[in-house]
Amino acid sequence: MISNEAKKEIDIWVSKYPKGRESSAVMQALTIVQKENSGILNSDLIYAVADYLKMPAISVQEVATFYENYNHKPVGKHVVRFCHNISCMLNGSDDLISYLENKLEVKTGEVTKDGLVSVRKVECLGACVGGPMCQIGDQYYENLTTDKLDKILEELK
Ligand code: FES
Repeated sequence: MISNEAKKEIDIWVSKYPKGRESSAVMQALTIVQKENSGILNSDLIYAVADYLKMPAISVQEVATFYENYNHKPVGKHVVRFCHNISCMLNGSDDLISYLENKLEVKTGEVTKDGLVSVRKVECLGACVGGPMCQIGDQYYENLTTDKLDKILEELK
C-alpha cells in the first residue's frame, strides 16, 4: 500500500524525532502517501500510515480529517488554496474567490472540467501581511488582484 520509496521518505521524518515518537511524523507521512496516490487519501491509506507508524487508526484519521491539506475526494492537478481568514478577507479575498469561481466555472471544492484546477477556501496560511493570498503547491502568491490571478492561472499547465 505504501511504496518502498515513500517509506524511505517517511523514515527520514521519523528519524527527526526521539525513539518511540514515530507518530510525530504523521502529518508528513500522510502528505507523502497522499502525493503518491494521485493527491487523495482513502481509508486504506490512512490505515496503512497508522500501521506503519504504529498508531491507532483513529488518531491518524483525526489528523487526516482535521487539516485542510489532506484530500478525501478527487482534486485538480493544481489546488488553489485560497485563504479567507480575517486579514485576507478584509483585503478582498471573498471577491477574488468569487472571481476565480466565475472564471474557472467551478465552486470552491470542485474541480474544473479539464481536471486541471480545484479551488479550496482555507484558514490562515500565515502570510497575513500579504493578503489576499493563496497557495498553489508549495508556492505562496500574495497581494493578489484579478490581474495577478489571471497571470497565475495562465501559467498552470
Ligand atoms: S489571514 Fe490570510 S494568510 Fe493569514
